[in-house]
Amino acid sequence: MAAQHLVVVGKSGVGKSTTAANLAAALADAGKRVVLIGYDTRWNTTATLRGDNLLAPIPHWNGEGAVPFYARGFRSSLCIEAGDLTIEGEAVGATELLRNPLVREYDPDYVIHDVSWEPAASFVLPAAAEGVIRVLAVTSADMGAIHAVNELFAWLNTVSATDCRFGGVVVNNLSGPLYESIVSDFANLTGATVAASVTHSLMVSVSDFYNQTLIEAAPSSHVTYAYRKVARTVLDDLELRRPAFLDTVALKEWAVKWGEIITELETGLVRDGSNI
Ligand SMILES: Nc1ncnc2c1ncn2[C@@H]1O[C@H](COP(=O)(O)OP(=O)(O)O)[C@@H](O)[C@H]1O
Ligand SMILES: [Mg+2]
Repeated sequence: MAAQHLVVVGKSGVGKSTTAANLAAALADAGKRVVLIGYDTRWNTTATLRGDNLLAPIPHWNGEGAVPFYARGFRSSLCIEAGDLTIEGEAVGATELLRNPLVREYDPDYVIHDVSWEPAASFVLPAAAEGVIRVLAVTSADMGAIHAVNELFAWLNTVSATDCRFGGVVVNNLSGPLYESIVSDFANLTGATVAASVTHSLMVSVSDFYNQTLIEAAPSSHVTYAYRKVARTVLDDLELRRPAFLDTVALKEWAVKWGEIITELETGLVRDGSNI
């Protein structure tokens, strides 16, 4: 059966690689055959999933660009660091990668793509992704991160994304209920489903220190629970609604509304004269 492809998208630094690696581990822990592919030239996507296993060049590489590297990871998962395989925004090398005997013979249930480019018009999925393609959006409550998710939603509503399903929003790095309210308000407005909320947690650093995913390093922490929850939405294979996006004016109005709410709460100054 063709693999299901999960594409993890979001602004740089928002927690995509953390989400991708922990989702991979949670799916592998549920007995699934998982390939995790990172497209970052720092080769840092699979570190916690592969632990101390060393990377080696992929055999029989015929693709353009530098040869990708691979290692086995947690629960027999397959870790690949592909570097930047994009040419003019198109993941041409990724197509070659999916056709490589190493990946084909592994016969994955899920291929998780941790893309390092930001969602924009140039976002093109590997042509060899024959199975279902599901996009997961990672965001914090920062405006830049939410803006990137809004761009993704705009792209999801274009013709080139018609074969793509939506996998939900993973809200990351929450440090208080207000942050969660900001993102859930955006999700409500666009009709997006929140797959899980992950708090800002030192356990994520602990997992980096141990060089293990949270599934391994802290199986019963609440952050680990959040990643298992994301895996659950993937395993349940629900057809999620395709979110709408906010146009420039609506996004601006939304941002100003939250600016005012937070200013009122932080300073006690109410603009329209009413009480909080
Ligand atoms: N929920 C969290 N709590 C604490 N630190 C986090 C959390 N999520 C991510 N981080 C840390 O933030 C940094 C950036 O995360 P990363 O997953 O590499 O982002 P991206 O891949 O989107 O650039 C990493 O050092 C990671 O350990
Ligand atoms: Mg990354």
